[in-house]
Amino acid sequence: MSKLIVTSALPYANGDIHIGHLVEYIQTDIFVRFQRLIGNNVLYVCASDAHGTPIEINAAKKGMTPKELVGEFHDRHQADFSRFEVSFDEFYTTDSPENQKHCEIIYLRAKEKGHIDSRDIEQFYCERCGRFLPDRYIKGTCPKCSTLDQYGDVCESCGATYRPTELQDAHCAICGAKPEMRSSLHLFFKLIDFNDFLREWTSERGHLQDEVKGFVHTWIDQGLRDWDISRDGPYFGFRIPGEDNKFFYVWLDAPIGYIGATEHYCAGKDDVSVEEYWIDHASKTEIHHFIGKDIAYFHTLFWPAMLKAADYRIPTAVHVHGFLTVDSRKMSKSRGTFITARQFADQINPSFLRYFYAAKLGSTIDDIDLNLEEFVNRTNAELVNNITNLISRSVSFLNKRLDSRLGIVPQGCEGLVKDVLAHADQCLDDYNALKYSNVVRNILAISDIANNYVQQNEPWATIKSDPEKARNDLTFAINCSKILAILLKPIVPSYSVKVEQILGLDDLRWEDIKFDLEQRSVNVFEKLAERLEPGAMTRLIEASKDDLAVKELKTDTPDFKEEIAFDDFEKIDLRVGKILSASEVEGSDKLLKLRVDVGREIRTVFAGIKSSYSPQDLVGRKAAVVCNLAPRKMRFGTSEAMVLAASSPEGKIVLCDFGEEISPGSTIK
Ligand code: MSP
Ligand code: ZN
Repeated sequence: MSKLIVTSALPYANGDIHIGHLVEYIQTDIFVRFQRLIGNNVLYVCASDAHGTPIEINAAKKGMTPKELVGEFHDRHQADFSRFEVSFDEFYTTDSPENQKHCEIIYLRAKEKGHIDSRDIEQFYCERCGRFLPDRYIKGTCPKCSTLDQYGDVCESCGATYRPTELQDAHCAICGAKPEMRSSLHLFFKLIDFNDFLREWTSERGHLQDEVKGFVHTWIDQGLRDWDISRDGPYFGFRIPGEDNKFFYVWLDAPIGYIGATEHYCAGKDDVSVEEYWIDHASKTEIHHFIGKDIAYFHTLFWPAMLKAADYRIPTAVHVHGFLTVDSRKMSKSRGTFITARQFADQINPSFLRYFYAAKLGSTIDDIDLNLEEFVNRTNAELVNNITNLISRSVSFLNKRLDSRLGIVPQGCEGLVKDVLAHADQCLDDYNALKYSNVVRNILAISDIANNYVQQNEPWATIKSDPEKARNDLTFAINCSKILAILLKPIVPSYSVKVEQILGLDDLRWEDIKFDLEQRSVNVFEKLAERLEPGAMTRLIEASKDDLAVKELKTDTPDFKEEIAFDDFEKIDLRVGKILSASEVEGSDKLLKLRVDVGREIRTVFAGIKSSYSPQDLVGRKAAVVCNLAPRKMRFGTSEAMVLAASSPEGKIVLCDFGEEISPGSTIK
């Protein structure tokens, strides 16, 4: 028996689990369940990735503390994972005392051995927000294609990548203010110190898939650069010991979260310890990580180097998978293909997704495509019509015509029995090699053998002349069904459990793969899986679009006012006005004084828009103006019209202006 610890990447506690994430959790869970099925001892750990700037800022937006936000998503994620039968032994959080302890140990050991450097770096700083701005929190105009409103690292329109300092008109993505450059001391992990170790570890057989090895080696060849592991406060994370207002960058504490979760699991248990999994070099326990290709650098270079620096154990293998596409395109909110785990499970049997992903997954990092038509077709043709139908018709026939009793596996089946067992052996190799699509192919081959056998031997015909032959023929089919249930167990666990119940068996293991069900009863058949209707996926996509639209409605805007007649509206004389001049008003921190050309005359207007505009921003702009409001006497003079502006619940004010040419005095209705 081998002992393993297996991890999936820790999902950010900042949004729902979607069907893309599920590729990973299902791939890992199949591996874990397979290992358990063949008798290995597996600890499967995961956790919420809790720290970092996005979570902190999102929490503030929602009026929550980061801990509250993380707690909410942690619970949602746990519920979603359990609907998809992801069998974590531990689903913890990185925001834990155990994790903090290991972060400090690892950092301090690395520092003691001279692997930490420090130097000043220059970065954008927003005075108004009182924080340094990561690339994603700077927006501006793309230096290459001039598209407005792009992030500080990459333009979504032309795909150019650049440094945030290259953006035109850089501004803080949180508050809109213009940031300044400031320098601050940062701490760096000297990855280059581990150059030789990493080259060796990544080259040794078994740690990485060949194609992953290929691109990791190009990274090493390009030269390993120091890794910035510190962030200035305010930051949601762990304080760096011995530093003032500095925190570990989330990507330092996230993988250490695997260890923190292990320690939490082991607490109070006598037979397991965090030392055995992560620290004791005499331990033979294997460490397996499953990750997506986007986070390979962290897991194949930084992570083993950090563990090495602190003298922890090094992973046995990092298994990398590709990304999910839907109908060959990236998941997209507007196309409705950004489907959450929750939306999926509300409408479609989660086992079907597990089956489909298994049928698609190999051991490469190729992207896997969820083609909607193929999903419905394969579910119906393979899982329902082929496999389920075999079990259903064999058991139902025994129930109705043969007292639910099995006979013996008939003479003359030896060749077929051998074939079936050979396919099962092939499944063992393919499961071990993470070639699940081959596993599924072999499963279907067994199901075909059994279905053909029943078809050719026609028990519904022979029962009249030779009922015992019919019984024996069905006994062959039932033994195949049992073997299928075992082979399918890692992929569709609850489905297999139902088959076990129907056959009157329980807790089948890999070693039960043999033709030994004879002279015993089966239970009554119960429904296993229902066909999908052709429109099932379309409905799911529509539901996902609706959910998104509802989520994006702003319900914190004020209630609508009482209905008015069109005549009432017509009373308002709305015109285009051109702002000729604008100036500050002494003694007022809200008002600007404007001179506005409204066509037939020039009016003086006092407008409460000073918080959003400076006078020079306004000159020359055209805005919507109410021209027949009774003049209003104010301390500073008389306002002879009203310039319209929109104000958001957050207090942002935007002038109602015109994007196209139109002459002053034009009427608006
Ligand atoms: N929090 C980090 C991981 C830290 S591990 C120490 C993170 N979180 S994530 O929520 O963005 O992603 C979790 C896992 O899901 C990652 O391995 C990621 O590659 C995977 N996937 C996210 N979207 C995916 C697809 N569309 N398709 C396949 N896998 C995807 O990264
Ligand atoms: Zn700001």
